[in-house]
Amino acid sequence: MRILVTGATGLIGTQLCSHLLTKGHSLHILTTRSPWRTDDAQTRVFQWSPKNMQIDHLALEGVNAIINLAGAKINQRWTAKNKRSILKSRMQSTRLLFDAVKQTDQKPHLINASAIGIYPSDFERKYTESDTSFSNDFDGEVVRQWEEETKQFEMLPCKTTILRIGLVLSSKGGAFVPLSLPTRWGLGAWFGNGQQWQSWIHIDDLVGVIDYCLQNQLEGYINATAPNPVRQRHLIQTIAKEVGAPQFLPGIPKFLMSIALGKMYKLVYDSIYAKPERLLGSRYPYQFPEISACVADLIAKDK
Ligand SMILES: NC(=O)c1ccc[n+]([C@@H]2O[C@H](COP(=O)([O-])OP(=O)(O)OC[C@H]3O[C@@H](n4cnc5c(N)ncnc54)[C@H](OP(=O)(O)O)[C@@H]3O)[C@@H](O)[C@H]2O)c1
Repeated sequence: MRILVTGATGLIGTQLCSHLLTKGHSLHILTTRSPWRTDDAQTRVFQWSPKNMQIDHLALEGVNAIINLAGAKINQRWTAKNKRSILKSRMQSTRLLFDAVKQTDQKPHLINASAIGIYPSDFERKYTESDTSFSNDFDGEVVRQWEEETKQFEMLPCKTTILRIGLVLSSKGGAFVPLSLPTRWGLGAWFGNGQQWQSWIHIDDLVGVIDYCLQNQLEGYINATAPNPVRQRHLIQTIAKEVGAPQFLPGIPKFLMSIALGKMYKLVYDSIYAKPERLLGSRYPYQFPEISACVADLIAKDK
C-alpha cells in the first residue's frame, strides 16, 4: 500500500512510519519542515504549509490511505496566539487534505487523529464511542471542531476513521518522560488527589491500532486507549515501584500548577475514562492491556 502520513516527524508519526515500512508499505510524507530528507528508498518527502494553505499535490499521487497526525502541540501555554495555532493547525491541515483529495479521482482511507479530550472531565463516568456529551473546555472544543472537519471526508466519499487517542506512553517522549524522571529520583507526585482517570495507551499498541484500522477498514470513532485505564495515583505508584524508588510526596495542588502552566494546567487534573469498546468488540490484540507491563516495558527500554 502507498500511505500518506502527516505529522510523520512527531512522537507517534516517527514510530508509525518505521512500523509501516517494516510491513512493506511505501510512504509519502508531508512535512512543514524544509528541507527534510530521508535516506529510505521507500519514502518520499513532500512539503506543505497548512498555515498558507499550500500543498504539493504530488504527495497524493497513487495514495491508498492517509494518516493525518499533524497539529501544533497542545501542551504549550494557552495564550490567545498559541490557542489560535493549536486550533488552526488542525483545521487547516485537514481542510487542505480534503481540498487536495477532492481534486483527484482517488478515494483513500483517511485515519485522522483526535483525542479523548473531547469527553468532559468526570471522576466517575466511563465514556464509550457512542457517548455524545462533549467538553466545552478549550481542548474539547478544538477536538470537536477538528472531528467535524474530518467528517467532511465521508462526503467524498472516503472511508474515515477518527481515532480518539488517549495519553500515549512512550520512552521517547510525550507524558511518560516528565512523569517518570522525577519519580526515579524519589520525587514522583500526582496532581491534586490523584484520583483522576488516565486513559493511557502504549505507543506500540497505538501504532498497532492504526495498522489494524487500515487492515480491517474500521471506520467511525474509535477510542484509541488501553482497556484498563488507571487513576493517576496508581500510575505514579506503578512507575515508582518499577524503578524501585520511594513515593512519599503529597499531591501537587492546583494553584501551583496554574502558576507554572497557566490555563493549560487543567490537562493534568482532568479525569477521563475512555473505554475502547470498538477495539475490544473487534478483538484488537493488545500487547499492553495492563499498566504494570506497559510501565515495565518503557522503563526497560529507557535503561
Ligand atoms: N501524544 C499524545 O499523547 C496524543 C494524545 C491525543 C492526541 N494526540 C494527537 O495526535 C497527533 C500526533 O501526536 P504526537 O504526539 O505525535 O504530536 P507531535 O509529536 O507534536 O507531532 C505533531 C507533528 O505535527 C506537525 N506540526 C506541528 N506543528 C504544526 C503546524 N503548526 N501545522 C502543521 N503541522 C504541524 C509536525 O510535523 P512536521 O514538522 O513534519 O510538519 C509534528 O511533528 C496530534 O495531533 C495530537 O494532538 C496525541
